[in-house]
Amino acid sequence: MKILVTGGAGYIGSHTCVELINAGYEVVIADNFLNSCPVVLDRIKELTGRDFGFYECDLRDRAPLDKIFAEHKIDAVIHFAGLKAVGESVEKPLEYYDNNLGCTLTLCEAMRAANCKRLVFSSSATVYGMNNPSPLREDMPIGGTTNPYGTTKYMIELILRDLYASDNTWSIALLRYFNPIGAHKSGRIGENPNGIPNNLMPYITQVAVGKLPYINVFGNDYDTPDGTGVRDYIHVVDLALGHLKAVEKIMSGTGIDAYNLGTGKGYSVLEMIRSLEKASGKKLNYKIMGRRPGDLASCYSDPSKALRELGWRAERGLEEMCEDSWRWQSMNPEGY
Ligand code: NAD
Ligand code: UFG
Repeated sequence: MKILVTGGAGYIGSHTCVELINAGYEVVIADNFLNSCPVVLDRIKELTGRDFGFYECDLRDRAPLDKIFAEHKIDAVIHFAGLKAVGESVEKPLEYYDNNLGCTLTLCEAMRAANCKRLVFSSSATVYGMNNPSPLREDMPIGGTTNPYGTTKYMIELILRDLYASDNTWSIALLRYFNPIGAHKSGRIGENPNGIPNNLMPYITQVAVGKLPYINVFGNDYDTPDGTGVRDYIHVVDLALGHLKAVEKIMSGTGIDAYNLGTGKGYSVLEMIRSLEKASGKKLNYKIMGRRPGDLASCYSDPSKALRELGWRAERGLEEMCEDSWRWQSMNPEGY
């Protein structure tokens, strides 16, 4: 079975490609390295001992997509490609709408033309907006997003539902990720943010490796056990394995469904700092700052639908997530 992986050179995409190849799938990656670099492809080869197809292209361009579908019999597509920085999306809304919606529309048009109608889409817990209480369930209303990035994910979910309504031979899984962290056990692939990280875990590991002086804790007056924000951190390899289960699901019938990929457990910012201190053996400095605009107090999943319908659950706990994040950061202090 052959899977087209868009954005396969990125953080979650690269881990998913390794798991797909190790499970015996053939993989074709399409990426323009907008937020990744070519060395990732060598690392995937090194970790799997197998080769795969690669096309350097912008997913908004139709011609290279048609070429991929003409040159390969693609059974299903996993669509990771997109821009993902919340703050940047507020500064550059047009670029975010153009890239995230543009990639998805062009991809779906090319898929329809090639009669390949099986799609796994990278959605996000951000589609639940500000008004739903955790644990978040797939049947809760979505929308009310607070930034253009989140709105692109919400809009794409709506677009894909309209697409299915127009043609029920499609089979689509909308995977709502919670907070992926960690890295492959080898320490050879991992998260590689550009510049100063926006997300908590890469920020913490850069403090641990000495690249940044201290962690900014955004608020300690939330209604949470220690006052700091609580999130559902999930090991990126568990997340990757969730995609394999979603592929099995979309191969077995038609329809469109959303699934939370999370652990169902929430950890606070201070718990994350302590856990990385333990994994790294280093004392980490932090400062309490004001709240970051748009942040929720708590955001964690009810992951039971994915267990029930995909047969998937996260297996890796916080300690392993932190050990693997630290191994990646300490082996690659400057990233790739
Ligand atoms: P990433 O930036 O590491 O990977 C995205 C990849 O897509 C990159 O390799 C980038 O070069 C590529 N890309 C972007 N625009 C492209 C275009 N126009 N044409 C071709 N390639 C393009 O991000 P990630 O963390 O691996 O996230 C993957 C997906 O999961 C994204 O859609 C993201 O929004 C979603 N997601 C991520 C998180 C998270 O916390 N990492 C949470 C929820 C959802
Ligand atoms: N935080 C800090 N200091 C930092 C960074 C983050 O205290 O330097 C705190 C935040 O306030 C929050 C928690 O750490 O309480 C996690 O923040 P992240 O930025 O790591 O993650 P978010 O939950 O804000 O956002 C992530 C992704 C989004 C996605 C969302 C829901 O970045 O793309 O999860 O899936 F939309």
